[in-house]
Amino acid sequence: MSTSTPGGLVVRNLHKTYPPDIVALRDVSLELAPGTFTAIIGPSGCGKTTLLKIAAGIETYQHGEVFFAGERIAGNTSWRRSVIYQDIRLFPWLTAQANVAFALESKGLPKAEARRQAAQWIERQGLQLYADAYPAELSGGMRQKIGVCRVLANAPELVLCDEPFSALDWTARESLQLELLHYWYEQRKTVLFVTHNVEEAVYLAQRVVLMSARPGEIKEIVDVPLPEERWSVRRDSPQLLAVAQYVNNHIADEVRKAQATEQAVGY
Ligand SMILES: Nc1ncnc2c1ncn2[C@@H]1O[C@H](COP(=O)(O)OP(=O)(O)O)[C@@H](O)[C@H]1O
Ligand SMILES: [Mg+2]
Repeated sequence: MSTSTPGGLVVRNLHKTYPPDIVALRDVSLELAPGTFTAIIGPSGCGKTTLLKIAAGIETYQHGEVFFAGERIAGNTSWRRSVIYQDIRLFPWLTAQANVAFALESKGLPKAEARRQAAQWIERQGLQLYADAYPAELSGGMRQKIGVCRVLANAPELVLCDEPFSALDWTARESLQLELLHYWYEQRKTVLFVTHNVEEAVYLAQRVVLMSARPGEIKEIVDVPLPEERWSVRRDSPQLLAVAQYVNNHIADEVRKAQATEQAVGY
């Protein structure tokens, strides 16, 4: 496994307004040290997706600065910074295995080696019987598993996750959580993981960023004092539950505020 240290993400005084005057992010500053795993929790509409899109370079902004590994990001995309969406689109004309092999080949691996490694990714997700199936023949959960493998096989240095496991059943969700954790742990890449699931945030991340209701601002950053080898932590461990409880208490207020804004403004 590679041990190269990737860069960190620096966001300074970021401000994003959508036309005509929807303030999505207001003065957001956030630093992710290289190789860290950070989760973001915040009410719907507080700008989480906007922040990820800006970091990926698929959305621009009005004020502030964003850097990854020293490179300024302002609407420029790169394979180094990948988003894992809730519903990843696979290439419909390629089999499950070929979808993953495609990512590996595009990284320069010879065809046979790409095929071998793709088979390993697929096997870890328990999908070996579906390696030669086309996306249309797979369930939504299976497609998402293949999609996550394809993104990670591409070896991004910044993994931007936008509620990637929210629509999955428990076993698929757990399997992909572990895949992502191992990727982060072994490759030492930087992960920014948006979720509305407090338990998921606390289970995966070293730090949980709490955002306020729109316009999104960072309210607090909570450290999760659990070992990096999270797969060895029980999901009902008292430390994990204590942090989750703390996060829950702090976001309950923001959710109430967001609902009040929606009612007052009408969206
Ligand atoms: N393309 C867009 N045009 C106009 N408004 C948008 C656009 N995308 C998002 N918004 C608005 O910006 C705010 C933040 O959106 P988003 O980043 O998707 O929030 P979240 O992911 O936290 O739910 C919301 O009020 C949303 O309606
Ligand atoms: Mg979103």
